Amino acid sequence: MVTEVLAGLSCRPDGVYVDGTLGLGGHAEAILVASSPSGRLVGLDQDRAALHKAAQRLHPFGSRALLIHSCYSHLAEVLAELQIGSVAGILLDLGISTDQLQVSGRGFSFGGEEPLDMRMNPDAQEITAADLLNEKPEAELNRLFWELGEERWARRIARRVVQVRQQIPLRTTAQLVELIRQAVPVPSRRIHPATRVFQALRLAVNQELEKLAAFIPQAIAALEPQGRLVIIAYHSLEDRIVKQAFIRAEQNGLLKRVHKKPLVPQPEEVKRNPSARSAKLRVAARLAA
Ligand SMILES: C[S@@+](CC[C@H](N)C(=O)[O-])C[C@H]1O[C@@H](n2cnc3c(N)ncnc32)[C@H](O)[C@@H]1O
Repeated sequence: MVTEVLAGLSCRPDGVYVDGTLGLGGHAEAILVASSPSGRLVGLDQDRAALHKAAQRLHPFGSRALLIHSCYSHLAEVLAELQIGSVAGILLDLGISTDQLQVSGRGFSFGGEEPLDMRMNPDAQEITAADLLNEKPEAELNRLFWELGEERWARRIARRVVQVRQQIPLRTTAQLVELIRQAVPVPSRRIHPATRVFQALRLAVNQELEKLAAFIPQAIAALEPQGRLVIIAYHSLEDRIVKQAFIRAEQNGLLKRVHKKPLVPQPEEVKRNPSARSAKLRVAARLAA
């Protein structure tokens, strides 16, 4: 949703922008082009591999792009260290990148046989998906799959996890996919039966909802008057956090929502990139305090 992101950020040539989820640098590159010749971009990613790839892509922009290995929930700290008082726009494009899914080998994808890791920042995180699966009580696994995955067969899958791990510890994505197949009586025709459990585990391992909730007030505080906050969510729980935070900030006179309803991708974009199908983009503008 590059066009919608650029329109939402309303980039200008001397603005300072933050991309809190740099990924492979696609949005960051578009922001740097749209804010030429002297706009600057601070790009954050908690995954070193992503940061490394984005650095190669953004090399032509020289010192206009500053890339930092950090979690977006540390935004206030990062900007204070850089002595940046306020910024013209901030973007979050939540979820995982295609590289994390397809080549990271960290168990985000249910297609192959990978370790059940799912940590986006293995340097700073200790708990893996395998740890959760092998150690959490059945009731907690049930809650995790139900609440974070909205998985209707959560109870059956949690029970099967406990049965299997009593025989052999869960180590690989293939083991997990196989036990989900065994536990789910009527597989969905629309999505792979493991989709929701993988999503729930990824959200839990990386504490994604908690980080998002901690980020939004910092982002609002960092924006200059009229500065824009753009967030793309792919999951109803994430989108709910963004929606409610924007409404609360509007009630408190801090933000004005630019669109009341979220923007969704055009059908051609979904055809080109099916993983964009559930994207919801919300934009708000900072009001003078
Ligand atoms: C969907 S991708 C972003 C794609 C990017 N917009 C692009 O154009 O290539 C999400 C990225 O956000 C990163 N990420 C997720 N949670 C993060 C967090 N809490 N702090 C920093 N980066 C995070 C992931 O590592 C991943 O690289």
